[in-house]
Amino acid sequence: MFKLSLVLVFLIAFSGIDASPIKYHNPSCSGNMSATDVDLVHFAMNLEFTEAEFFLKASTGKGLDAFNATLAKGGPPPIGAKKANLDPITNRIIEEFGYQEIGHLRAIADMTGGIPRPLLNLTRENFAMFMDRAVGRRSNPRFDPYANSLNYLLASYYIPYVGLTGYVGAIPYLVYFNIKRISKPKQACGGSFGGGIGSRRSNKALLYERQNEKVEEYGGVTVAELTNEISNLRNELGMCGIKDEGLFVPLWLGAENRTTSNILSANPYSLSYDRTPQEILRVMYGTGNERRPGGFWPCGANGRIARMFLDERYHGNYDACSDGKN
Ligand SMILES: *[C@@H]1O[C@H](CO)[C@@H](O)[C@H](O)[C@H]1NC(C)=O
Ligand SMILES: *[C@@H]1O[C@H](CO)[C@@H](O)[C@H](O)[C@H]1NC(C)=O
Ligand SMILES: *[C@@H]1O[C@H](CO)[C@@H](O)[C@H](O)[C@H]1NC(C)=O
Repeated sequence: MFKLSLVLVFLIAFSGIDASPIKYHNPSCSGNMSATDVDLVHFAMNLEFTEAEFFLKASTGKGLDAFNATLAKGGPPPIGAKKANLDPITNRIIEEFGYQEIGHLRAIADMTGGIPRPLLNLTRENFAMFMDRAVGRRSNPRFDPYANSLNYLLASYYIPYVGLTGYVGAIPYLVYFNIKRISKPKQACGGSFGGGIGSRRSNKALLYERQNEKVEEYGGVTVAELTNEISNLRNELGMCGIKDEGLFVPLWLGAENRTTSNILSANPYSLSYDRTPQEILRVMYGTGNERRPGGFWPCGANGRIARMFLDERYHGNYDACSDGKN
């Protein structure tokens, strides 16, 4: 299935999509935006920064700047990220994901110059707020993504998975862009695409193994139930129908209609669901509004696409945003 989707992506990449402006036609769900390959890839960098910081800090205790001080392009360091209390295996996997993210960021920066890292709110409180919202009640004790492996995986389920679906919109163009510009299709595919999808899939697999475990902070709700709640929240905020699924899906949405487990979320042709930049902004801002920043990106995401939507009225709401760097 995975190989098939790669092939399909290549077909899409080569089937006459040109590098000039891409138009989104669905008005309510995609607006009327035109963007270049570089814009789309820059947009994806917002997610890459978020993942890089969350993964690296949780597994190594060090953020992106400790590994490469120039990639952030002067963007502020994240708020609230810290070393998580992870078991050794989870720690190793998350560390690996972190390094993959550095690779993606470097590849994009080298090819396009990149964008400044947006301000990231990776505080325990922010994750707890999103989780509480998904479940519909306040956690007790307060949900802490950094407290243990299970909580960490649940928390990362919110971000990386958006990353996956977000990429599907931009990645054919990224692959295309790479091939066009540096003529290394294998690297473009295995590095940026395969790596990203693979890591998110194993992330989901780690949770799948623990589907029946209970999450104490929510009075014994199971992991399976909680991931479904998180998916529901993302769909609600994205406002464009079902774009992702929890660990279990109704039979009619499962792979080849024969399974109810759902490790790699996909549409009926096993291509991953697509999310437009606007939907990703709504989900990551937590406001359901691409013009109104908040949530994980309190000062807004960076790059031309995100900035085009951003309503300046909301920009600078926080002291942290008014330093001119965002
Ligand atoms: C998109 O913009 C074009 C040109 O401005 C316009 O003709 C078209 O009606 C717009 N479509 C939607 C769905 O708004
Ligand atoms: C940091 O990333 C930039 C952009 O890809 C690259 O040019 C530079 O060599 C990297 N620095 C280190 C120390 O890896
Ligand atoms: C980070 O998120 C928490 C919880 O939502 C919030 O209280 C805090 O003000 C946020 N920080 C910034 C800079 O947005």
